[in-house]
Amino acid sequence: MGQRIVIVGGNRLAGTVSVSGSKNASLAIIAGAILASEGVTTIHNLPRIGDIATMADVLRHLGISVSFSEDGHSAHIDATNLTSHEAATEIVARLRASFWVLGPVLARLKRARVAQPGGCNIGARPVDLHLKGLQALGARLDATHGYVAAEAPDGLRGATIYLDFPSVGATMNIMMAAALGEGTTMIENAAQEPDIEDLGNFLIAMGARIHGHGTGVLTVEGVDRLRGCEYRVVTDRIEAGTLGLAAGITGGDVFLDGANPAHLRPITLKMAEAGLKVKEEARGIRVVGPAGRPRPTRLTALPHPGFPTDMQQAFTALLCVADGTSVVTDKVYENRFRYLSELGKMGAVAEVDGRTAVITGVPRLTGADVEGTDLRASAALFLAGLRAEGQTRLSETQHLERGYECLVEKLQGLGAETWREDESGGGRLALCSA
Ligand code: UD1
Repeated sequence: MGQRIVIVGGNRLAGTVSVSGSKNASLAIIAGAILASEGVTTIHNLPRIGDIATMADVLRHLGISVSFSEDGHSAHIDATNLTSHEAATEIVARLRASFWVLGPVLARLKRARVAQPGGCNIGARPVDLHLKGLQALGARLDATHGYVAAEAPDGLRGATIYLDFPSVGATMNIMMAAALGEGTTMIENAAQEPDIEDLGNFLIAMGARIHGHGTGVLTVEGVDRLRGCEYRVVTDRIEAGTLGLAAGITGGDVFLDGANPAHLRPITLKMAEAGLKVKEEARGIRVVGPAGRPRPTRLTALPHPGFPTDMQQAFTALLCVADGTSVVTDKVYENRFRYLSELGKMGAVAEVDGRTAVITGVPRLTGADVEGTDLRASAALFLAGLRAEGQTRLSETQHLERGYECLVEKLQGLGAETWREDESGGGRLALCSA
């Protein structure tokens, strides 16, 4: 039986909410743990979400032992017994990030085979840059029949690699492979997202030699072996931004406990432009929404330090009730506006032309039955539901559960009227315990 989330709009959210560990950094770090040929890796502050469980399964199928602490926030990974070079296809199809095991498995076993990835349905997402990088490191590749098979019988060698686009996944895959290569690798036009910085810090804790992670020029000096370590993942800037926007769209006042102000600046500066008040504090960030309607603004999603594409949808939900017309452009993905037709069911007015959407702010939204077509689309619809008059019923909630830890419960804690229920209408479902 499917689940849906019901949201009764209109409550002003207030209070403190704690921000979970970063989904994207955690996924990369779990893949990175494959590189340890000695010792156990312990990772703390993992979010308890579907994607992390899926990534753990990918590792288990490679012969690696993965266990979680009782609260689900820490994982112990013993990769000394990496026996298989083939990732399980049916799992890879569910999670694009599982393609990131290609680099580490290749570096450890000199060969790897991984299916071409699945993931959110947001337009073409090729892996050519991953392959270009691994090829430059000396891997022989065969990308046919939906699989990528890579071999490097004599090991990987350092090289200078220029990325035509600063792809997050390609930067991670190349950096992990190069960590066990011979000599120095330089990635030019590397992705600079905080998740890359966190992966780099994790690999350094394992014994890797990496410089410039988090900048556009990343250098990796290969080492012979890496060992397990203990590491704490950074907090999730996208979750923090989403919770901040929940305060913004309801005219509320919320403290985001644990949010990293530096990581969130591209988001918080835009929040300020839209009329939200943002206060950076030692332990987190306070966001206060405007008493009336937000201000319209121009927003362009770009690679970091530009505005993150993963926040584009949630921010657009805010702009749907702005006092004027906003222009939103997504330069990272070609097809990331499909959720606007669902927002339209709630009264939002938007026109899309290619990668740009023109949003005409409306004074009020109304509750509707809507479908969360992907992870970030679901977050946008949830936010709109918090502002809308009446009841919103959000279906396809599996997307939301993949990426946000206990979002329903976190928003309840701030005063939102929201719950999960069976789609048959069979009553409220149990709480998720963070
Ligand atoms: C990661 C994030 C995702 C985020 C995205 C951009 C994870 C698990 N996912 O995804 O949440 O939205 O970064 O910030 O961390 N591209 C190519 N060739 C490639 C690789 C990418 O053309 O080889 C294109 C993609 O089609 C897309 C753009 O580059 O249009 C960005 O992709 P990329 O940065 O690679 O995103 P992911 O790593 O998949």
